Amino acid sequence: MKTWVVANQKGGVGKTTVAVTLGGWLVDKGKRVLLVDMDPQCSLSAYFGFEPDRIEASVYDLFTHPDRDPSEVVVASNIDGIDVLPATPAMATLDRQLGQRQGQGLVLSRALRQLAEGYSHALVDCSPSLGVLMVNALAAADRVLVPTQTEYMALKGLERMLRTLTMINRSRSTRLPCLIIPTMFDRRTRASVGALEELRQQHGDELWREVIPVDTQFREASRNGLPLPQHLPQSRGAQAFRQLLSELLAAEAAGHDEEAA
Ligand SMILES: Nc1ncnc2c1ncn2[C@@H]1O[C@H](COP(=O)(O)OP(=O)(O)OP(=O)(O)O)[C@@H](O)[C@H]1O
Ligand SMILES: [Mg+2]
Repeated sequence: MKTWVVANQKGGVGKTTVAVTLGGWLVDKGKRVLLVDMDPQCSLSAYFGFEPDRIEASVYDLFTHPDRDPSEVVVASNIDGIDVLPATPAMATLDRQLGQRQGQGLVLSRALRQLAEGYSHALVDCSPSLGVLMVNALAAADRVLVPTQTEYMALKGLERMLRTLTMINRSRSTRLPCLIIPTMFDRRTRASVGALEELRQQHGDELWREVIPVDTQFREASRNGLPLPQHLPQSRGAQAFRQLLSELLAAEAAGHDEEAA
């Protein structure tokens, strides 16, 4: 199983959408996918209709009950081939609860190792804040995907995320592959075009050379509780993600991702 982590310390840049939409195309290709919700806002869980009061256990329990079998926390979604490791709002208290305790950085890695046989890919959706949850996600990652909105303020947020990755890379033996994904691109606006130009100048090496366009169908898909590839595969947004996934799988096949330790 390969683990792709979707992270950016800037909020509302399309992280959850990236995790859900790539998951949708992966199952379309016959893969089995585990979507992991590491965000106390529970957006990914809510996308598939998992409300906190209707689920028995969540990522929270992996931290508070280390002996718990993670497969008991996983729930099946409405899409064949997509399972979810759901979140609950209580996860927001983990930083305070665990703050000073050592050895809390590998809780997710351990759980994913136990679940690895059932899936080709785990896609991990992070919250916009840097804390024990994001540290766990990055420690488990074979690859990091950093969606960034094509607008000036979002570029500032991106810098913060890239500094975090530099810090994480210092504590690793090898560099974590990272791909910046420009999203919500609107070619009719000067702000979008200008921001993309700046991204290309500053981060050409790590930047996906295509863009995810702004597409209202993403909202429609989430309203229906379906990934966009299942809701409207021919939409511009879905097609852009299809291209992104084929490049990610090609990079993986070429061995650019690290083997899990
Ligand atoms: N390419 C796009 N075009 C239009 N709308 C989009 C696009 N990508 C995402 N959206 C919409 O923008 C909103 C924010 O997206 P999303 O929830 O994926 O961001 P996020 O980074 O996960 O947010 P948060 O930081 O709160 O977790 C959602 O309503 C989503 O449907
Ligand atoms: Mg989100």
